[in-house]
Amino acid sequence: MSTKRATPLRVAVLASGRGSNLQAIIDAIEAGQLQARIVAVISNKKDAVALERARNHGAPDIFVDPKPFAGRPDSREAYDQALLEVLSKHDAELVLLAGYMKIVTAVFINSYVNRMMNIHPSLLPSFPGLEVQKKAIEWGCKLAGCTVHFVTEGVDEGPIILQAAVPILDGDTPETLAARILEQEHKIYPRAVQLYAEGRLRVEGRRVFIDGGKPLGAALVSAS
Ligand code: GAR
Repeated sequence: MSTKRATPLRVAVLASGRGSNLQAIIDAIEAGQLQARIVAVISNKKDAVALERARNHGAPDIFVDPKPFAGRPDSREAYDQALLEVLSKHDAELVLLAGYMKIVTAVFINSYVNRMMNIHPSLLPSFPGLEVQKKAIEWGCKLAGCTVHFVTEGVDEGPIILQAAVPILDGDTPETLAARILEQEHKIYPRAVQLYAEGRLRVEGRRVFIDGGKPLGAALVSAS
């Protein structure tokens, strides 16, 4: 089931690095698989490749420098307030964190309740935080994966929208595992955004239901 929108969903993306997830969103839009428009790509890093990807797509690329806010007791909140102003100026309906390596504060989260998503390279709630592929290997897990979730105040804790699993192989390094997971990230993030665009995500407490979804719609063992 797919609902045609009258206008594309207005999406803003926050990214700090290479932006391969941003690129997956861009590719899905350009392929006509995602009814969205990127109204801004914002970074806390001036040289983020993500900003270059935005320019190549013709989307506004915006560097918001954290430096002027440093040293203030409320530096993180003040920075997020500046981000909110940019987002409001560009009229963003949905905010996507895509390799955004800065903790977002309550002032930001409370303005985008159930309207801000994050992608994380583990099967949450296992392995929140950093270096998660290494941790999954060291723990001896047989499966790893990725999670798209709504953002709440707890880091990597919000309601789960989609997950995909991949095997952990004997010879895996954090890098080989990260690459296998990333392939799945690039599939489930655009898919989650399209579900949002179609108005099919319903949040009840911690659970996200997909209206009109297939029985295994939110648990994908290697999304195809
Ligand atoms: C991705 O693997 C994403 O899941 C991870 O950073 C990478 C960014 O890659 N995010 C987190 O670890 C957030 N907790 P990208 O810049 O190529 O999209």
